[in-house]
Amino acid sequence: MIRIGIIGCGHWGMNHVRIFYFCEGAKVQICCDKDHARLKALHNTYQGLITTTDYNRVIKDKTIDLVVIATPTATHYELVRAALLNGKHVLCEKPLAIKTKETKELVELAKKNNKILMVGFVFLYNKGIIALRDYIKKKTLGKVYYLHFTRTNLGPIRDDVDVIYDLASHDISIASFLLGKWPKKVSTNAGYFLRKKISDTAFITLYYPDNVLVNIHVSWLDPRKVRRITCVGDKKMAVWDDLDTAEPIRIFNKGVLKEPYYADYGEFHLLPREGEVISPLVKLEEPLKKQNSYFLNCVTQNKRPFTDAVFAHNVSKVLEAIQSSIKKKGQIRIIDK
Ligand SMILES: NC(=O)c1ccc[n+]([C@@H]2O[C@H](COP(=O)([O-])OP(=O)(O)OC[C@H]3O[C@@H](n4cnc5c(N)ncnc54)[C@H](O)[C@@H]3O)[C@@H](O)[C@H]2O)c1
Repeated sequence: MIRIGIIGCGHWGMNHVRIFYFCEGAKVQICCDKDHARLKALHNTYQGLITTTDYNRVIKDKTIDLVVIATPTATHYELVRAALLNGKHVLCEKPLAIKTKETKELVELAKKNNKILMVGFVFLYNKGIIALRDYIKKKTLGKVYYLHFTRTNLGPIRDDVDVIYDLASHDISIASFLLGKWPKKVSTNAGYFLRKKISDTAFITLYYPDNVLVNIHVSWLDPRKVRRITCVGDKKMAVWDDLDTAEPIRIFNKGVLKEPYYADYGEFHLLPREGEVISPLVKLEEPLKKQNSYFLNCVTQNKRPFTDAVFAHNVSKVLEAIQSSIKKKGQIRIIDK
């Protein structure tokens, strides 16, 4: 039986409590939040939970094997560090920390203490995203030209980090998972429409190897909730729509034909090619449930998760380069190796 402590039981942390509470082989032993009302709500829903407002009670408890951290991003570094130093395995929400200096330190600390540090890039456990990755890997779409991501909504607006750390961290993780590579360069323009120092809207371009372009549009200031990826290849095109639970993926057998232009040797006619649209069966499963049971498995079998601290550190390097590009008014910045 793995004994779990959960720090941060707000909007997202409550989902961790629910999933681990009903998970075989795991016991949620103690939950921590600064907010008494949230702890009271937990007491009313789940029997036998110990609750506290002091996170030290969780990380210093010798009976706890692993700690889940679902507090605001600005607090992650301090809490993850303390949990690792106290000999806990850690599942931390995305992004792991704000600075790459911090994520690097956490990578090393987890390694030194022989503990598993996994980060909650939950979309990589989404069946639709996994299916899209498989189509790309099997070259069903041909050579990928570009990916376009939209992740917008009206709020929720955060105070501790900007829209890029909050939302684009997901898309960077997904793009790199789909392509099996990390970007080399980045350029970004951001909007500070609501506040002077925290961006609420951003248009990010990532330059991947093999000339693959990735564009990410994230916003807290948009009339519609959209979670969509368009993937354009030289043979076919695909669209993933997280909000379309019946048909999350559609494959468009469309493209552009190049026909020789005889009047002018070496030139081509570009002819749009129309074809059928297929929506393959994707049996959806709650991604967080899949992620958390995978984490438990990694802990019990002492296996390194693929969304580990090294993966999270790579995401942070991209996030840091994005901030540097914004400061230089959208200039292309090279991402550290
Ligand atoms: N993976 C996902 O899809 C996903 C979705 C939403 C949020 N998140 C991440 O989860 C984290 C939390 O987001 P949220 O939406 O639940 O925020 P939230 O504000 O609803 O909840 C955060 C909770 O942490 C508590 N808290 C803050 N500091 C604390 C401390 N030092 N000790 C104990 N409790 C403390 C707050 O009282 C609050 O209840 C963020 O890092 C966010 O990026 C991930």
